[in-house]
Amino acid sequence: MKQQQLDDLAQEIIANNVCPELATQATQLVMGDGNPNADIVLIGEAPGKNEDLQGKPFVGAAGKFLDEMLRQAGLARSDVYITNIVKYRPPNNRDPLPAEKQEFWPYLLRQLEIIDPKFVITLGRHSGGYFIPDLHISHDHGHPRRVAYHGQEFMVVPLYHPAAALYNGGMRQTLIDDFIATAQLVR
Ligand code: URA
Repeated sequence: MKQQQLDDLAQEIIANNVCPELATQATQLVMGDGNPNADIVLIGEAPGKNEDLQGKPFVGAAGKFLDEMLRQAGLARSDVYITNIVKYRPPNNRDPLPAEKQEFWPYLLRQLEIIDPKFVITLGRHSGGYFIPDLHISHDHGHPRRVAYHGQEFMVVPLYHPAAALYNGGMRQTLIDDFIATAQLVR
């Protein structure tokens, strides 16, 4: 039922010609993956090369680390729902532009309305900054904040982006610790 609504929303994004320049260069729309009935939604930035080819978020190197974070917290992909703000791969993996994030933002909110999670975990400052405008990730990471959008309410927990941890061992442990603490809070 929720999956059908998410499929319909994906069709609507295509029909409404959202970010046409990204759409023409991308292989496909990467809507999301995991369990639409989950209490936790993880939100990254935009698909990369592997995600674009496979049609699923976080399946490349950053995704492998995300899987490890989930495993250490006693969770599997099937326990959470994973998506991105921008749902087409930006060319050459450049950062998504503010205008692109803005175009996708209402669809992300509708996606959250359908899933209705208790917790939204943002991965990186691009995603976190949209939910928490005054975000200072080095200070705020791992700290939940209550956020409300037209009648919807959930806790937002900003985390570092898993790709950042690939090159920085200290950040790797911070991310894992933040994620384990968040999973405990959800339970
Ligand atoms: N990085 C992201 O932000 N999202 C993905 O889906 C993959 C890598």
